[in-house]
Amino acid sequence: MSTVDLSYQIRQQILQDKSEIERLMGLGFAPSHAGRAIWRLRYGDAIEDLSLVADANGQLLGSIRYWPILIAERPSILLGPLAVDPSVRGKGIGVALVQQSLALAQTGQWEWCFISGEPEYYLKFGFNPVSYDDITLPAHIEPERLHLLPLVSARPDAMPEKPWPIMPMSTDAPTDAPIDVEPAQQITGEC
Ligand SMILES: CC(C)(COP(=O)(O)OP(=O)(O)OC[C@H]1O[C@@H](n2cnc3c(N)ncnc32)[C@H](O)[C@@H]1OP(=O)(O)O)[C@@H](O)C(=O)NCCC(=O)NCCS
Repeated sequence: MSTVDLSYQIRQQILQDKSEIERLMGLGFAPSHAGRAIWRLRYGDAIEDLSLVADANGQLLGSIRYWPILIAERPSILLGPLAVDPSVRGKGIGVALVQQSLALAQTGQWEWCFISGEPEYYLKFGFNPVSYDDITLPAHIEPERLHLLPLVSARPDAMPEKPWPIMPMSTDAPTDAPIDVEPAQQITGEC
């Protein structure tokens, strides 16, 4: 990007954003990203209402998406991937995308939000680190990346005994990433 317009608006992602989002993903993540373990939770489509972009006059500066998951059979969400254009990082766009999308999530029926993310980045949004004593996953992710946030619909007292299984909500084929890699090829980490 040669010039950067920092007057951007955060809006819901639309179909036409696909190539710009792919550009941001390419800048934010290694090519092996789609083979990462976390994508085993991303079946079917991203949740339209919660997936937002930071739009500066048609140029996307950032993107956040969510997928529906089940946590101990409760309707829940997986935050990410989140990516901000490298030319405008450190200016609050990532935080704004997380805050606004989580505020939307709080108005829905979702109970918990799960993230496999940078250990330091998500604590400021109220996420709590969890371990494999608390949850189980379809594929291994480094334990220091695992965080959970109870949303307003959560009823922690009504949850079953831990560990809580986390799995995709949809059984549809993934629309946004190939996840048909052999388990042995999976690389863990990233969000
Ligand atoms: C992580 C990312 C989305 C942050 O976006 P951003 O717009 O630069 O972030 P913001 O400006 O809103 O937030 C800056 C704050 O986050 C912190 N931060 C930024 N990247 C971080 C990281 N990878 N780990 C921990 N903290 C990070 C900064 O230190 C800063 O903290 P401060 O406000 O206390 O000073 C961006 O760096 C990015 O796209 N990275 C590549 C993809 C990625 O790693 N996505 C997240 C995976 S979980």
